[in-house]
Amino acid sequence: MSGDASTVHTDGIPPDALSKVQEYLEPFHLSVEKLREVSARLRKDLVRGLGKHSHHKAPVKMLPTFVRATPDGTEKGDFLALDLGGTNFRVLHVRVVEEEQKVLKMDSQICAIPKEMMLGPGVQLFDHIAACLNDFLVSQNLKGQTLPLGFTFSFPCEQKEIDKSILIRWTKGFNCSGVEGEDVVKLLKEAIHRRGDYDIGSVAMVNDTVGTMMSCGYRDQSCEIGMIIGTGTNACYMEEIKNVRRVEGEDGRMCINTEWGGFGDDGCLKDIRTEFDVVVDETSINPGIHNFEKMISGMYLGEIVRLLLVRLTENKLLFEGRTSEALLTPDAFETKFMSEIEERDGGLENTQNILTELGLKWDSVDSRIVRLVCNAVSSRSARLCGAALATLANRIRVNRRLDHLKTTVGVDGTVYKKHPNFSEELRATVRLLAPDCDITFLVSEDGSGKGAAMVTAVAQRLAHQTRLKCFYQSQKYQKYIYIFF
Ligand code: GLC
Repeated sequence: MSGDASTVHTDGIPPDALSKVQEYLEPFHLSVEKLREVSARLRKDLVRGLGKHSHHKAPVKMLPTFVRATPDGTEKGDFLALDLGGTNFRVLHVRVVEEEQKVLKMDSQICAIPKEMMLGPGVQLFDHIAACLNDFLVSQNLKGQTLPLGFTFSFPCEQKEIDKSILIRWTKGFNCSGVEGEDVVKLLKEAIHRRGDYDIGSVAMVNDTVGTMMSCGYRDQSCEIGMIIGTGTNACYMEEIKNVRRVEGEDGRMCINTEWGGFGDDGCLKDIRTEFDVVVDETSINPGIHNFEKMISGMYLGEIVRLLLVRLTENKLLFEGRTSEALLTPDAFETKFMSEIEERDGGLENTQNILTELGLKWDSVDSRIVRLVCNAVSSRSARLCGAALATLANRIRVNRRLDHLKTTVGVDGTVYKKHPNFSEELRATVRLLAPDCDITFLVSEDGSGKGAAMVTAVAQRLAHQTRLKCFYQSQKYQKYIYIFF
């Protein structure tokens, strides 16, 4: 596991400097026993989140998604998809072709969301989204059609129905006023109606983890976990309905959006949080919220490294004690630098280029120490994520009373996809902590875009079926998506 990787990275650092640097990195090295403890705590929190009376106060929200299964291959048609929640906002036109069982991305457009807008009034944000959608429809010659729309909104939402989703709280870089506690679909529709020059069809709301699971589920029927390790981190999985105490019903399964980023918000990870994690949290726009995510995901990893580098420099263990303006600027050390620095071949050269860019005067030992620091931070992230994923896999196995579980995880997110050792370390941790689970990892091809369209397509098919079922079944089930594995 990461121990091996770290040893490689210690080459070329004099022993006395190394032992002083290691003192700062020690809290980042989590033993397997500690990871097991973390997994056991998460296991308890999953149960708290699912409970009828305990979920209100649970840090891991375990949100029902009303998605009960994956596509059956008969879905078809043209869809729009919106994707909000990562670094960019995207609009997509997606075609689902029944005969070939294919989901085709016809075209897409990225729209920047200025930082001020991420923190400004919600009305302004939704007006911007409606304007981007309009530009896209014009450019695609789609104006005048009312296409169904899948909205990947990657924040914790209490989903009331497939097209009614209340934002519980903003996470990651967003904090727009007037949106928490509101129905996001309503806000989107209101913005479109304010313009009055186009309309959309039915809307399906999707979390990116669910979109990822669904888009992978189309390729591999045994995909029943979706995981994101990008700007933020989260996972969803198929839970037995009888365990979801907030939802009526005994049979079958439902996809649960865990919102595992909130793990530790009740203080249960205090023993593993370092002083650097505390600073990252306290200086963030949402202190106290999503502590686990802040130790793992792309929005925060670079900043943890920067704080460590500043501390090592102040203590004369780096750059002869001289910092630079860039190094002292919050968020100036980007998470993507870590991937470049930890590259097996060429990593040292990349490190040196990055340090020069940051205005630092380095020598060869400095660049090796910087590499070691990045490795400690990324390793911890991968191992924590692995521990969390192992917890889900173990839960599914126990739920089904199986000695051995074979399952597939759909994964997306730049940290997982781009970092050179991340996926390997994550898998090694899962193998250790969930030895009875045989997990295949499937990298999602645009789950947030195609997956959202897929959920919308299924919802449409089922709405049609449900209209027929309605004669026979009680009204309350109308709102569920009926899809079965
Ligand atoms: C944050 C959001 C969550 C999302 C994740 C990955 O944790 O709260 O909804 O799935 O980021 O984008």
